[in-house]
Amino acid sequence: SLPVPSVQALVEATGGDDVPPRYLRPDAAEEAVTGDGDGEAQIPIIDHRRLLLELDHGGEESARLHRACQDWGFFQLVNHSVPDDVVESMKVNIQQFFQLPAETKKRFAQERGQLEGYGQLFVVSEDQKLDWADMLFLYAQPPERRKTKFWPDQPATFRYSGAVKDVSDSLLATMAKNLGLKRETIADKCIRGMQSFRMNYYPPCAQAERVVGLSPHSDANLLTLVLQVNHVQGLQIKRNGSWLPVKPVPGAFIVNIGDMLEVFTNGRYRSIEHRAVVDPKEERLSVAAFHFPDMDAMIGPLKELTAQEDDAYKTLDLESFMKIFFATKLEGKSFLDRMKLN
Ligand code: SIN
Ligand code: FE2
Repeated sequence: SLPVPSVQALVEATGGDDVPPRYLRPDAAEEAVTGDGDGEAQIPIIDHRRLLLELDHGGEESARLHRACQDWGFFQLVNHSVPDDVVESMKVNIQQFFQLPAETKKRFAQERGQLEGYGQLFVVSEDQKLDWADMLFLYAQPPERRKTKFWPDQPATFRYSGAVKDVSDSLLATMAKNLGLKRETIADKCIRGMQSFRMNYYPPCAQAERVVGLSPHSDANLLTLVLQVNHVQGLQIKRNGSWLPVKPVPGAFIVNIGDMLEVFTNGRYRSIEHRAVVDPKEERLSVAAFHFPDMDAMIGPLKELTAQEDDAYKTLDLESFMKIFFATKLEGKSFLDRMKLN
């Protein structure tokens, strides 16, 4: 990636009133937004404790999860198994990181051509529009992938990493059962599966409606768990042709189905386009945890699901899948369309 200036540093230097042209998205303001997240239909809320109680026999909560994955591709997970103190120290950790002086943060900077570290993703050309955000990207699992020089507070992030991976594995087990599979069917492909983190920092912007915090995209991986760090909302999902703001429930994870899970389930579960907008006055922080299958897993429709139907997607090894993902993302085309067989 090309080095681009820190948006946080830009706001600190200029007060944020002057937005450089590279960040202005004249079209963004014209796209329809559904309400303000109040009073509108919201993404389903799923209770993790109930799911765990039902794991052996299924039940109402599992059925609600199944519908959420089919109809929404997004849900909020409450009563999850990550201890409060682990979540709290992760929040403090990441807030403190972005409060460090610019010079100190530079020590964590991405190296040329690498994703890991402090910087931006998907920046490839000098004239490309930029997102109004800075981020810290880390590989968290399996543990030997961690490059700890990029980790500001290692113990807090390690604990969070393991606890969140457990939640992801547990959700994948219930999803497998809900699909009529053995509970290990998906989890067995993820035993050494990669987990990465993107810690997002969205500075306030005086022209908030003319910039985008995180460009519209769907996630490539299996399952994403997002932690809202402060009270400022900004995530929006594409629903019935317009953007629906997600109103975060305090303490919940916002969970979404990624492209690989759409492919595994031969389209039963849906990977939904989403974006992040920014606030005119307040900064916003979030932590996204992405969960992938094992490096040697094949990404394609599960054969257990396609005994009586055609494969709707190609089957590729993970590396080829990611190569196409990055290439199409940068061309602004829909990645899943390229994966579809017809
Ligand atoms: C995302 O990871 O796509 C969105 C994260 C956020 O809500 O800031
Ligand atoms: Fe995302």
